Amino acid sequence: MSTAAPPSRPVVRRDIAGVSISELAQDHGTPLYVYEAETIRRRCRDLAAWDTIRFAQKACSNLAILDLVRREGVMVDAVSTGEIHRALAAGYQPHAASGAASASELPPVHPIVYTADIFDRDSLDAVAKLGIHVNCGSADMLEQLAERVPGASVTLRVNPGFGHGHSQKTNTGGEGSKHGIWHADIPEVLRRAEWAGLSVTGLHMHIGSGTDLAHLAEVAGALERVALEIGRSLTTISAGGGLPVPYKPGEVHADLGGYFTLWDATRKKLEQQFGHRIRLEIEPGRYLTAESGYLITEVRAVKHQGSRKYVLVDAGFNTLARPVLYGSYHPMSICPRDPADAAATEEVAIGGPLCESGDIFTQTDGGFVATRSLPAAEVGDLLVIEIAGAYGFVMASNYNSKPLPAEVLIDGGKARLVRARQTPGDLIRGETV
Ligand code: LLP
Repeated sequence: MSTAAPPSRPVVRRDIAGVSISELAQDHGTPLYVYEAETIRRRCRDLAAWDTIRFAQKACSNLAILDLVRREGVMVDAVSTGEIHRALAAGYQPHAASGAASASELPPVHPIVYTADIFDRDSLDAVAKLGIHVNCGSADMLEQLAERVPGASVTLRVNPGFGHGHSQKTNTGGEGSKHGIWHADIPEVLRRAEWAGLSVTGLHMHIGSGTDLAHLAEVAGALERVALEIGRSLTTISAGGGLPVPYKPGEVHADLGGYFTLWDATRKKLEQQFGHRIRLEIEPGRYLTAESGYLITEVRAVKHQGSRKYVLVDAGFNTLARPVLYGSYHPMSICPRDPADAAATEEVAIGGPLCESGDIFTQTDGGFVATRSLPAAEVGDLLVIEIAGAYGFVMASNYNSKPLPAEVLIDGGKARLVRARQTPGDLIRGETV
């Protein structure tokens, strides 16, 4: 399930979608997240065969990005009250238009779905008040919802007993995962839903993030078995997210056509069994935004520690946490301060400003410092960390009292600030002595 190998990425980069990287850094400062709108649109269109693309906004929830995908017809997932508010602020309606579909029509789509394994008190208030559809990952959520929204329809998130991810931390199936309702408990959970007066209209499985299509494909069969246990009340099935993107040299885009065909066959079998249409959803996060995103940093120090050369930049794991959390690989390039510079490449470790040894962007799983072959960099050059548009800004923190970076969206050759950098005042807001 793969396509041709991609051309290798350049290690010198001077522009992003036609906009000069030096000018972006000058205008907005560094570290700076930059997204290309057109890449996101292209990724949305790649998935047009599915009835519903539901963006897992946890990957990149800036309002401008949510607005962009909404205009592409993409629906949205929310995992917290904050994400519900973001979706509403970006123009999503809280719930589907009322009115049942006939057997030959697809059921109405829920613009926002709240997906979680618990309700905190705020999120239960929000879904009840706004009429937001809920995807329940624990049976206790059923009674809690029924008390507040009698007669609601719900989706069940099922843990099929297996999972896979790019890291053990992103594997969301099997006994090692807290997520979803255990597959063998479904008959009991269906009884609980019935006693609570809820109708189960949706079924969802998400086995992990950044896995491969061979593992993802196993979900279709598992979902079909559970769907038959639920029966005719079912109107929507979701394949979850997890679509991989190529980060490392040699990795390729997945065969999305083959993946859709597999799920479409599952949907058709269920339609035949139930005698009505079934909406088929996919719930990508990373796939829609990862490749659109770049983190521009400035080189602030270059030094040797024994035989190893370190290039230290002004972004750390407070800005991009994926390398320290998972040993994730991100392509990198240099934008030299002097446009005439064409330095030879050398092996360097790239680190940030934080007072912690793990603050290294070139590390492997387990925290081992690795190196990258990059053009020799000097203080003042810019280092660009690429494929940073998913789980980048959204996982940034204020560790070491560093402000959250600014975010810029490039569309039609124009760069637009879509989130201002935090100020020192923002850092202490709400604190008292
Ligand atoms: N649906 C559900 C229920 C999820 O929990 C997730 C991701 C997704 C969809 C989207 O998965 P994606 O298509 O993006 O792989 N911070 C980690 C990823 C954590 C993913 C959590 N859930 C990383 O940086 O790789």
